[in-house]
Amino acid sequence: MLWLLLCILDVLVASFEVTVPNKHLLAIRGHPTVLGCEFTSDPDLSNLVVTWQRQEDARVVHSFYYQQDQLNRQSLKYHNRTSLYVSKLHKGNASLRIAAVRPKDAGWYMCIVSNAKGTGRALMEVTYEGMHAYDEHWR
Ligand SMILES: *[C@@H]1O[C@H](CO)[C@@H](O)[C@H](O)[C@H]1NC(C)=O
Ligand SMILES: *[C@@H]1O[C@H](CO)[C@@H](O)[C@H](O)[C@H]1NC(C)=O
Repeated sequence: MLWLLLCILDVLVASFEVTVPNKHLLAIRGHPTVLGCEFTSDPDLSNLVVTWQRQEDARVVHSFYYQQDQLNRQSLKYHNRTSLYVSKLHKGNASLRIAAVRPKDAGWYMCIVSNAKGTGRALMEVTYEGMHAYDEHWR
């Protein structure tokens, strides 16, 4: 009985996936960076909800639903600096672009996606590489 239940759960879980191709991303100060995230696509975008948030404090980095960016709850730290590739969403690409990386962008990011096929999440880490000597000097 339990075995059957586990098999059913397995099928349900396997039918929808969110994956991050690069679990540890090195971002360079002042440069744009792309946090990759892929999900099991569905041509119907009307049910699609994409949320990027910081794992540490659940701060909203970017979100998208009702077929448009929803930035009311976005952390001010990310204001005007983030974008999705909206034309790629129907292909299952929920990658996030952050313009001009800052030191505080380093940390853990969760890509959370749901659509008619399911819900899932994937975690990735962004590490920051600056010019350390320069940073120390001008901090
Ligand atoms: C998503 O699309 C962007 C823009 O074309 C591309 O740079 C990126 O590699 C794609 N990411 C994935 C995970 O396919
Ligand atoms: C974001 O851009 C708008 C329009 O250019 C500007 O009015 C606003 O001050 C910017 N916000 C931040 C936090 O930079």
